[in-house]
Amino acid sequence: MAASGRLQLSSPLRWLRYVGCCKNRGLVLSGGARETGSEGSGRRLLFTAAPLQSSEDKIKVNFVNRDGEKLKAEGNLGDSLLDVVIENNLDIDGFGACEGTLACSTCHLIFEDDTYKKLDSSTDEEMDMLDLAYGLTDTSRLGCQICLKKWMDGMTVEVPTGISVARQTKDFSSGS
Ligand code: FES
Repeated sequence: MAASGRLQLSSPLRWLRYVGCCKNRGLVLSGGARETGSEGSGRRLLFTAAPLQSSEDKIKVNFVNRDGEKLKAEGNLGDSLLDVVIENNLDIDGFGACEGTLACSTCHLIFEDDTYKKLDSSTDEEMDMLDLAYGLTDTSRLGCQICLKKWMDGMTVEVPTGISVARQTKDFSSGS
């Protein structure tokens, strides 16, 4: 009788899953909990992942690589364009060097005018890093900060011909 009212957690974190980046630029975790009844002397509380997204939630994105090659990819709603590049294993040299931490500008992408106008506004941090991007245009954004929405299905983004890695621009030749 001693422990009949006690709840046990069974490794809850292993059931949480990363479901995307937006909107606050942080990890979004999803999961649920349910009680599974008595087991031994205590009740177990299980965490379960949210249902996987269906294929209807897939968003198609076309990338035009630096050499003009067209790369077709798709991602889930809420994925960043950096996620899309990684998940589709796209061969875009140097893309996403800082893994979306706004410490480089290697995820610089150029959008079509109509698409650019519909994007969420950029943060000051993104603008600061974008200023360091090579080949900046009026419709440039950082891919790690753009997350997929339904209306983006079929959009085309261009990878600029050059890259500038902000983390590598510090001059170490002056000594200490
Ligand atoms: Fe470095 Fe986007 S991946 S700023």
